[in-house]
Amino acid sequence: MRALASLVFFAVVLSLLPVGSWAAEAPIFGTFVLFEVKSDWGTLSLEERQKGGQEAKALLEGYKDQVTVDAYWTYGLTTESHCMLRLHSADLQANQQFLTQLRATGLGRHLDLTYTISGVTKGLNYAPDFPDLLEKLKAGKYEGEPPRYAIMIPIRKNAQWWNLAKEDRVEMIKEHTLPTLAYLKTIKRKLYHSTGLSDVDFLTIFETNNLVEFNNLVIALRMVREDTFNIQLGEPTVIGTIKTWDEVVDLLVQ
Ligand code: HEM
Repeated sequence: MRALASLVFFAVVLSLLPVGSWAAEAPIFGTFVLFEVKSDWGTLSLEERQKGGQEAKALLEGYKDQVTVDAYWTYGLTTESHCMLRLHSADLQANQQFLTQLRATGLGRHLDLTYTISGVTKGLNYAPDFPDLLEKLKAGKYEGEPPRYAIMIPIRKNAQWWNLAKEDRVEMIKEHTLPTLAYLKTIKRKLYHSTGLSDVDFLTIFETNNLVEFNNLVIALRMVREDTFNIQLGEPTVIGTIKTWDEVVDLLVQ
């Protein structure tokens, strides 16, 4: 039974991994955490750091049926952090259990969690109401080399937005979507809903090799009416390079 549950979880998570899928899927809880290494980590011997790193790597292996982890190296690009993890699971508690056990590893004892935020994936709210554009979105595919950069941006909308009629929100999300078509080849995206689960309404994460295009995309989206209802965009904006968990652990150990 447990094996079947794991299989189902992995079928769901794997279908979610390409950032920006358009079909409705079972909800997945995403937790983003920023870690900063404490200064005493550097005073440990290399052997102690390696042992701590091995414990952290082994922990992920032990959770592979419940939690998937994406890792990003943020040091030098995002304040008060060395790395960001994105955890995906079918139950938010599994993300918490992983992080709690990470804290007990030789590496985790020397990590300060400086920021954490969670959200959940949901089906599309608005795009089914503009089917022609949705078809174009579905047809647009990321091209080229795998992306090296990830950017996570939390977003909060004001009460006026939530109290607009649905047709008005559909119209403005349509305006939001139109300029994005030009970027489907270079930018992948994923959206989490966060209202009531955190202080923001949405968590967005993007992957790209082209930061200038990403900058142009965000500027284009600042020029649509929907943006006037955003009362928080970023704060923090987290930017990092995409790594595996083992690569991030090795960078911390060295
Ligand atoms: C290639 C880039 C992008 C594409 C294709 C895209 C497309 C879309 C679509 C189709 C929706 C509506 C989803 C639904 O029907 O529920 C949406 C919603 C949203 N997008 Fe984008 N978007 C892109 C980039 C961005 C960027 C750069 C931001 C902000 C930094 C952003 C923030 C949001 C937010 C917060 C929502 C949820 C709005 C709401 O439900 O009120 N998007 N996007």
